[in-house]
Amino acid sequence: MTDYAKQPRPETDYKDLNMSLKAVTSICSYRIANLANAAALLWENLADINWAGFYLMTDGKLVLGPFQGKVACTEIEVGSGVCGTAVASGKTQLVEDVHTFDGHIACDSASNSEIVIPIHRHGEVFGVLDIDSPLLSRFDENDRKGLEAFARIIEKAI
Ligand code: SME
Repeated sequence: MTDYAKQPRPETDYKDLNMSLKAVTSICSYRIANLANAAALLWENLADINWAGFYLMTDGKLVLGPFQGKVACTEIEVGSGVCGTAVASGKTQLVEDVHTFDGHIACDSASNSEIVIPIHRHGEVFGVLDIDSPLLSRFDENDRKGLEAFARIIEKAI
């Protein structure tokens, strides 16, 4: 019998994933609908993740948006945690071990690594894309490149 737990993780085909995101969002002009489908696409296409979704800038802080995964914290201040750091710096945060990230906010204790990418609109941070994994060092440079391209497509769909 095949032991699937020991199979190497399949690499995400970001070309294919990002084409699907373009196709799905190009026929819809509603922001929340597009973000909800984007979270669903990530959830279906990335192996070994336990949370994928969005926090959106609202009243000067990040507020929980469409996502897949367990119930999560609803408000994050700019500068707090991995998400708030991504907003404050305007830069992708690729965290190999969340336990070594000063101020990491643990919504799900199963999370061990995380990637957060800022999403811009009209030159300002609109929110972040956040993905968590129960594996250490789940995300690499290939994921960063693919997910930053994913975020650029989102920016045209919000
Ligand atoms: N870990 C994040 C909080 C959001 S959850 O991962 C869904 C952070 O430190 O900002």
